Amino acid sequence: MKPVAFPASFRWGVATSAYQIEGAVAEDGRTPSIWDTFCRVPGAVRDGDHGDVACDHYHRMPQDVALIKSLGVDTYRFSVAWPRVQPGGRGPVNPAGIAFYDRLTDELLDAGVEPWVTLYHWDLPQELEDAGGWPHRDTAHRFADYAMLVFDRLSDRVGTWTTLNEPWCSAWLGYQAGVHAPGRRDLGAAVAAVHHLLLGHGLATQRMRAAAIREHTFGITLNLGTADPATDAPADHAAARRADGMGLRVFLDPLRKGTYPQDVLDDLAEQGAELPSRDGDLDTIATPLDVLGVNFYFGQDFSGTDEQGSSTGVDGHPVVRQVPLDRPRTAMDWPITPERLTRLLVRLHEDYPGLPIVITENGAAFDDAADDAGFVSDENRTAYLADHIAAVAAAREQGADIRGYFAWSLMDNFEWAEGYAKRFGIVHVNYATQQRTPKRSALWFRDLIAHHRGSASG
Ligand code: FCB
Repeated sequence: MKPVAFPASFRWGVATSAYQIEGAVAEDGRTPSIWDTFCRVPGAVRDGDHGDVACDHYHRMPQDVALIKSLGVDTYRFSVAWPRVQPGGRGPVNPAGIAFYDRLTDELLDAGVEPWVTLYHWDLPQELEDAGGWPHRDTAHRFADYAMLVFDRLSDRVGTWTTLNEPWCSAWLGYQAGVHAPGRRDLGAAVAAVHHLLLGHGLATQRMRAAAIREHTFGITLNLGTADPATDAPADHAAARRADGMGLRVFLDPLRKGTYPQDVLDDLAEQGAELPSRDGDLDTIATPLDVLGVNFYFGQDFSGTDEQGSSTGVDGHPVVRQVPLDRPRTAMDWPITPERLTRLLVRLHEDYPGLPIVITENGAAFDDAADDAGFVSDENRTAYLADHIAAVAAAREQGADIRGYFAWSLMDNFEWAEGYAKRFGIVHVNYATQQRTPKRSALWFRDLIAHHRGSASG
């Protein structure tokens, strides 16, 4: 075990999201989300998988909370399914839907585990997509209304509120690349989605803060990486700048500085796209934040030319090509780059100071082989977690204000377009029996937390 140096107040947690684990998609009044619809599109999700049953967490919640407790974590980050709480995305709360999260909150508190709520982890009610989805401005207002329904019911017991999980994925994978729900391929729509997601975050945060009767922590979670030029060629530097602009600065600049980066606006204008920002929007988006959630999986190198050496893609836009790194990889084919996590965190501390950070997701998929008892001896995942936790410690030593680390994920689950083929859990799930078995990495994580608690004196 690598030595770790974290204060006693450092939070250790595990994370999940609603659609990836709950199942019960048509129970107690829940209506379809864009993911229910997308999963039915032939070829959209590997093996035609869907979240109809997933980990059946909706029916196994108390046992799953006991499992979380057994790991010794102090925090559980979960998401609330919008179409469960507010079917169709408009109107009053659905009592049966919110009741599930009410029970989950109580169960966690009884177990001594702090609930950390994410309001939106990608499951937009289908009706709102039919009305235009995130590219449509009204969706930001619908999101703020929905946030208040959840806040009204749970804020007496839930202290930490994350508005959005990874708006980059919602906008780019959902509306530009088309590989996530709703599967659209339209640059203008993706750019509008970026702005309306940020606006929805700002509106919801302002309203929740105004309604709060006790102290709360409000935040947003971004998936961030490092964008390096593959070579010293000017085209590669330009590609890395573009990737960093659209991946990191287009979110953090408005959130922290109340402006969009000029180079990103110029890049978009060059491609005939524009962020549909109206007067006052940036003030709303820049509403104060208490915590930034960072999801980190890997860093990337970029080239400004394609394999044929051309700097213009088939769409006529400048090439921004991810170049494979010569590194060991996970089952997602993602390179393993813990030192880049340190670099990212130190950079965030320097470029966007004064904002505490929690690693709200970090983890890895590997092709696990379970033994007859369902046990997985995942040295690879254990090493991944250990190296990234050490990378967080290194960033803290360099001054970065990192307050917690949550493993993705509590258990194997529905990995979006990859279906059930990619396993990120520290707990193994046998999908035929729904049996949960902690993997070696879970036992290691449990021991790390216990060891750390035992040795942290203040
Ligand atoms: C993140 C998502 C999470 C999970 C991990 C592997 O982008 O937030 O739901 O799929 O990747």
